Amino acid sequence: MKSGLEDVVAAETVLSDVDGKNGRLIVRGVSLDELVVHNSYEDVLDLLFDGFFDTKGLRAALGRARVEVFAHVAQTDPALVVLPPVDGMRALLARLDDGQGRDAALRLVAAPAVFTTALLRLKVGLTPITPNAALSHAADSLRMMSGTMPSAQQVSALDRYLVTVADHGLNASTFAARVVASTQAGLTSSVLAALSALKGPLHGGAPGPVLDMLDAAGTPANALAWLESALANGERLMGFGHRVYRVRDPRADALKGAVRVLASSGAIDPARLALAEAVEAAALDLLKRKKPDRPLDTNVEFYTALLLEALGFPREAFTCVFAMGRVGGWIAHAREQAMDGRLIRPMSVYVGPVPQVAA
Ligand code: ACO
Repeated sequence: MKSGLEDVVAAETVLSDVDGKNGRLIVRGVSLDELVVHNSYEDVLDLLFDGFFDTKGLRAALGRARVEVFAHVAQTDPALVVLPPVDGMRALLARLDDGQGRDAALRLVAAPAVFTTALLRLKVGLTPITPNAALSHAADSLRMMSGTMPSAQQVSALDRYLVTVADHGLNASTFAARVVASTQAGLTSSVLAALSALKGPLHGGAPGPVLDMLDAAGTPANALAWLESALANGERLMGFGHRVYRVRDPRADALKGAVRVLASSGAIDPARLALAEAVEAAALDLLKRKKPDRPLDTNVEFYTALLLEALGFPREAFTCVFAMGRVGGWIAHAREQAMDGRLIRPMSVYVGPVPQVAA
């Protein structure tokens, strides 16, 4: 067996397909490059939830769900505020009811945005901002964080990010969600399991360390030397490599496009973008030379880091923003699995000692 279960098929899904050889992601019949151009996050939720929940009036219902979920913010105790944002957000999310229906699903979609932005404000002594049900999920999330109305470009950038990460086959967090759903536990239980899997640096915890890497490299001229020494120390270069993609992660390009738009509007310091591009080029060159047997390319997390930084999210909250988008996929997968009705219960091979048989 392979301990990472690579090549093992563990579910049939109508939700998304990750084509690792050709670098293509399809969500319910639509390829990612089309999806990001023509759809908002609410449209993608509509797509993902179709057949699993009633999708009529979904955008307005999601706005109302943000307002409902905000009621829990009042119960935030100081011990949660000092935790890393993803742990504080997970603790608040655990208080939501463990239902299976659309209302429970939409509260869970709303929760990462509402709780993360509230916790970020509480951390710096500011009052959390009540959601505005009339806004889009992306616009309201940015407003709840900063307290001011975001620009159209900022909204479009966050919306593109949420669309890009909404679903991605049977990744580690989605698998965790499906395992829990297969026991017929509720959606909150599935989302909690998924969130716990997401936070690790090998999965959704990578974009914060991508910025640490840029800071440590310092200048484009220093990029190669810094990366060489990191590799020599046995470190992994954050934002590169993927279990399934053997070519460039298509999500990296979807986000690079959004980063360039932000840069052209002055929202990203040109020196920061130049440094990122130099680090990316040096890393790709180095990985090709040092790991010739393993195609390692840029993954989604590299440009995520620049995009979320430009939108004003602190790096310790990047995993929470990933969850704001991926939660839609988790819930659709959990529902698909629960409707299948079959408990997921694989086998293990025992390699420990066996009892001695008396002579
Ligand atoms: N930097 C340096 N070397 C790497 C990297 C990397 N980013 N990724 C893989 N490798 C190397 C490994 O060291 C290994 O080399 P070896 O055979 O000489 O020991 C070889 O490539 C194969 O690595 P595996 O561990 O088998 O690759 P796996 O499929 O498990 O890795 C993973 C996928 C975990 C994403 C890996 O590429 C990695 O750690 N990347 C950095 C963290 C990251 O960016 N995570 C976000 C992923 S995207 C997402 O989950 C949303």
